[in-house]
Amino acid sequence: MKSGDPLFSPFRLGDRELANRIVLAPLTRSRAVGEGLPVDLHAEYYAQRASAGLLIAEATQISSEGQGYPSTPGIYTNEQISAWRVVTDRVHSTGGTIFLQLWHVGRAGHPANRPGAERSVAPSALAAPGNVYTKGGLQPFPIPRELSTSDIPRIVEDYVSAANKAMAAGFDGVEIHGANGYLVDQFLQSSSNHRSDQYGGSIENRVRFLHLVTEAVSRAIGRSRTGVRLSPFGIFNGASDPDPSKLFDVAIRGLSEIKIGYLHVINPEVSGDSSAAGVGVDVAGFARQRFAGPLIVAGGYDRDRAIEAVSSGAADLVAFGRLFISNPDLPRRLRLGAPLVEPDRSTFYTSGPRGYVDYPPMATDQAR
Ligand SMILES: Cc1cc2nc3c(=O)[nH]c(=O)nc-3n(C[C@H](O)[C@H](O)[C@H](O)COP(=O)(O)O)c2cc1C
Repeated sequence: MKSGDPLFSPFRLGDRELANRIVLAPLTRSRAVGEGLPVDLHAEYYAQRASAGLLIAEATQISSEGQGYPSTPGIYTNEQISAWRVVTDRVHSTGGTIFLQLWHVGRAGHPANRPGAERSVAPSALAAPGNVYTKGGLQPFPIPRELSTSDIPRIVEDYVSAANKAMAAGFDGVEIHGANGYLVDQFLQSSSNHRSDQYGGSIENRVRFLHLVTEAVSRAIGRSRTGVRLSPFGIFNGASDPDPSKLFDVAIRGLSEIKIGYLHVINPEVSGDSSAAGVGVDVAGFARQRFAGPLIVAGGYDRDRAIEAVSSGAADLVAFGRLFISNPDLPRRLRLGAPLVEPDRSTFYTSGPRGYVDYPPMATDQAR
């Protein structure tokens, strides 16, 4: 194995020199306590994975209203800033770089999971398909309140405030969660956006919220510190559109003009649903043609596909989700071509250390 492969070579992201092209994908693990507070376990978990060139910390609500599920962390109170500071200090002390993913779930959540029991809000009063886990058991996604035109600047401001708080907590940047059928994606996709104001209807109107949030956050904390995650052609949480190619063409070209630090795209096939609009679409190629800056790809990558993606120039960085849960020293294992451990799905969203910080690094005698 040539450790000189580009996957293992440094990459400059804004003012940070990343040690390699391997990224920890944002992963919700539902271990926050109280009102959205990360704890020492989070610091341990991220520090264990800090050999990745870039860590993208789990989706984190920008407001109480933006929370959808139990035990996810927040970044809107001073207590949350202090709690995240412990995590970023630990990661930085091991030489890592860490961004925080900013999340508003829109209609894909439940009031029972919010500290203030706020009603769900969304572009239109259309319930997401399916059920959501609450402490009282599974419940259908409720019909959300349609945001008024004048609500929207307040939500943009919530993103900016959360981004500023993330910087105050010591993060190196933020990633705006524009993927997987959450609020930003709900504005993009016609299945969840039936508005008739300047945020709905035409594609130009539906991309407006994404571009407003991105521009406002970039201006507040710096363009190179702002990333965006999209799931072009994805169908999670009821996302769908009759013309996803045109929609994401306009969305991505607009992000390129804003000159953000990176674009992060997810392959649609990982939803495991062969009816996904984009199965077979080369999402990396689609994004590369339209976005001029650094590109991160995610979704079903293994060692060979990741090496190929970076060596061929299809992407600059590759994010790993499930494999990074069970292989805390994933960059080293990939470099050595060592065996990988499969994750235990039953502990993805449970509380406590089991399945979270107890996957060991590779034993020295496993290294070839
Ligand atoms: C347990 C779990 C939690 C996830 N949480 C998030 C999240 O918070 N934000 C997000 O954008 N994607 C989330 N995802 C999607 C992953 O970031 C990633 O795109 C997906 O797992 C595909 O990559 P993989 O094949 O390497 O696992 C999650 C996936 C899993 C399995």
